[in-house]
Amino acid sequence: MNILITGGAGFIGSHTARALLDRGDTVVLLDDFNDRYDPRLKEARIEHMFEDSKKPVVIRGDILDQELLEKTIIEYYIDSVIHLAAWASVQPSIERPRIYSDVNVTGTVSVLEAARKHGIKKIVAASSSSVYGGITEMPFREDMNIMHPISPYAATKAATELMCATWNHLYGIPITCLRFFTVYGPWGRPEMAIFAFTKAILAEETIYMRGKDTMRDFTYIDDIVQGVIGALDNASGYHVYNLGESDGVPLPRMIAALESAIGKKATIEEVPLPQGDIPATLADITRAKQDLNYQPTTSIEEGTKKFAAWYHEWHDKIFTQSA
Ligand SMILES: NC(=O)c1ccc[n+]([C@@H]2O[C@H](COP(=O)([O-])OP(=O)(O)OC[C@H]3O[C@@H](n4cnc5c(N)ncnc54)[C@H](O)[C@@H]3O)[C@@H](O)[C@H]2O)c1
Repeated sequence: MNILITGGAGFIGSHTARALLDRGDTVVLLDDFNDRYDPRLKEARIEHMFEDSKKPVVIRGDILDQELLEKTIIEYYIDSVIHLAAWASVQPSIERPRIYSDVNVTGTVSVLEAARKHGIKKIVAASSSSVYGGITEMPFREDMNIMHPISPYAATKAATELMCATWNHLYGIPITCLRFFTVYGPWGRPEMAIFAFTKAILAEETIYMRGKDTMRDFTYIDDIVQGVIGALDNASGYHVYNLGESDGVPLPRMIAALESAIGKKATIEEVPLPQGDIPATLADITRAKQDLNYQPTTSIEEGTKKFAAWYHEWHDKIFTQSA
């Protein structure tokens, strides 16, 4: 397959690219390398994650530039699109709702339009567990009503799903939306808890735990990549799947796992869960197991060990380079 990955310099995109290249697909990454978080990490992923594999083609550009998308699809004979480019994260979406809407909603329309004009055969698009918003019944199932988002980010992801459903209805393109649950692992995003806590613990700074009862279905990156590729290989019609580990981990268990992985105790201060954040997430993954052969296997204890080993090797190399 000739696959375009939007947001391909991102955390999930770069790992997905690596796995697809390893099995022999041709991969083109499109990313604007924006500075929502330190772009040195995006550059480092491109420079180092493909050192012992085939290299992806890297295009620097914006998904809002539909002409560029169309040109890329034509030039590289693209037949499949994995659409991951987005502004991620809940809290900044409350500060900057407009950019979230522009990129996550209008940008998705731009990708869908470019795809249908040039005969793309299948699309996999990123949604998020945040679409479950205020729902308190656990675990979250794909057939729950998601029309109650509690942050602009969640609303843009629900809108992404609606756009995808519409383009499938109008043009018959097979499209699969994946609701990712708190993904972590090597080369992960620096503002996410596991990365930020590791940094703080090593620097002997206080970590701020957003509620001791807060629970997250932390999902290891390799498991997510297996689900994304399963979705690509099995795309037909329009479908939505949860991709979680299916293990609700309270924050104190995640922190204990990190302390053990790093070999150092944390100084913890409990703070309230901010507005916009969901108190608990847990994925029902029955559908993904059945249809995509999705089989997550990595516990938080095992995953944090792998993350800590990566952090130890790479953090300073990446972030001491000049921007
Ligand atoms: N990581 C998670 O826990 C998680 C959870 C739920 C959903 N998601 C979704 O999965 C997708 C990938 O997430 P990630 O963790 O890899 O995030 P990421 O921020 O590392 O990756 C997104 C990439 O998209 C790029 N991008 C943003 N705006 C762009 C634009 N206008 N044009 C071109 N590129 C642009 C960014 O530069 C970035 O490299 C996102 O859609 C995110 O919303 C992630």
